[in-house]
Amino acid sequence: MIPGYPKETFFVPDGIYLLSHSVGCLPVSTEKHLSDSFFRPWANSGGHAWTNWLDNINAFTQALAQLFNSNAQNFCPQVNLSSALTKILFSLPTPTHRNKVVFSARDFPSIGTVLQKYCKTLELEPVMIPQDRNLADPQTWSDFLDEEVSIALITHVVSNTGQKLPIRDIVQLCRDRTITSIVDIAQSAGIIPVDLSHWQADFVIGSCVKWLCGGPGAGYLWVSDNNIHECQPDDIGWFSHKDPMSLTMNNFEYAPDARRFTGGTPSVIPFTLATESIKLMHSAGIEHIHSHNKKLLSRLASQLNVNSPCQPNERGGTFVVSFSNNQKALQTLTSAGVHCDLRSEGLRLSPHLYNSASDIDTLAELINPLLGKRR
Ligand SMILES: Cc1ncc(COP(=O)(O)O)c(C=O)c1O
Repeated sequence: MIPGYPKETFFVPDGIYLLSHSVGCLPVSTEKHLSDSFFRPWANSGGHAWTNWLDNINAFTQALAQLFNSNAQNFCPQVNLSSALTKILFSLPTPTHRNKVVFSARDFPSIGTVLQKYCKTLELEPVMIPQDRNLADPQTWSDFLDEEVSIALITHVVSNTGQKLPIRDIVQLCRDRTITSIVDIAQSAGIIPVDLSHWQADFVIGSCVKWLCGGPGAGYLWVSDNNIHECQPDDIGWFSHKDPMSLTMNNFEYAPDARRFTGGTPSVIPFTLATESIKLMHSAGIEHIHSHNKKLLSRLASQLNVNSPCQPNERGGTFVVSFSNNQKALQTLTSAGVHCDLRSEGLRLSPHLYNSASDIDTLAELINPLLGKRR
């Protein structure tokens, strides 16, 4: 546990909760925060609540800026990563000489689908790094990032294998070769420290529903200062205008910052709710949360006679175990009260700040007999 952040800080379902790669647990303080910051202003002042609600959205981008070491004006709230990616891609100038877009077979399918749709619409060539290449090796990226590539999508932590990629090195390769980099942090935000000023990517997309424990609907995009002025989003509305209240039928001008990606009237609840979680995680310290997770993963690895598909120094927050009969293993663990899920590479086990060493010991005791039955 992290000192000052006991399990009771969250509503954690009974049993051993290891699904934080999918949905992080609800912080106990969120309900009151949502009531005070969203429902009360609405109940007390009707439409005047917009003052508080817009403050909430600003608090969201400020909390993200603190968490990821950047500035609030570089973030724009979004519904989810897929939609954020669509907005970014179609806002960019159409590539003229370079006609390839690089991504990986290990990216989240929704993200790969968006990229392919973009390529089809603009008649670009999608280049998918195959599954058998090691994504954590910068040489793999170097082999694919040739002079015909305009955009590269890089996933910080791969969802099905739990592998963590050296983003700074890959982004540097992109910069050296004048390739636009877009980084997906869905599986790292809230469990692995992310320093956007250090990375210097062109774009980053993420959400709060997983390790950040901030619920669904609070996605975001980040755009670097160098890129903002060339982005002309298609999906616009009065909140994309430099001064929403002054928009007329013929004076539209993009906001000078990432707000140009907003569109029309923004939703408020998801961002209000998620801000509470982001602040909580930031005050617990992502470095501390990460080192707690690493300790628990090593403890698990040392008690099992198998390893996750990736090396310990390449692991994100999730340990993946494959059994001879994964479906049966899932059933057995589920009936013993373990909350986990199954993907192509095996069962995903994701300890967070509300998990303890004794959760891991119990888990290992349940898993070892199942592994004994391996062919
Ligand atoms: C790596 C990664 N990217 C993206 C997503 C989700 O994308 P979206 O927010 O569009 O649903 C996930 C969800 O599991 C993911 O693991």
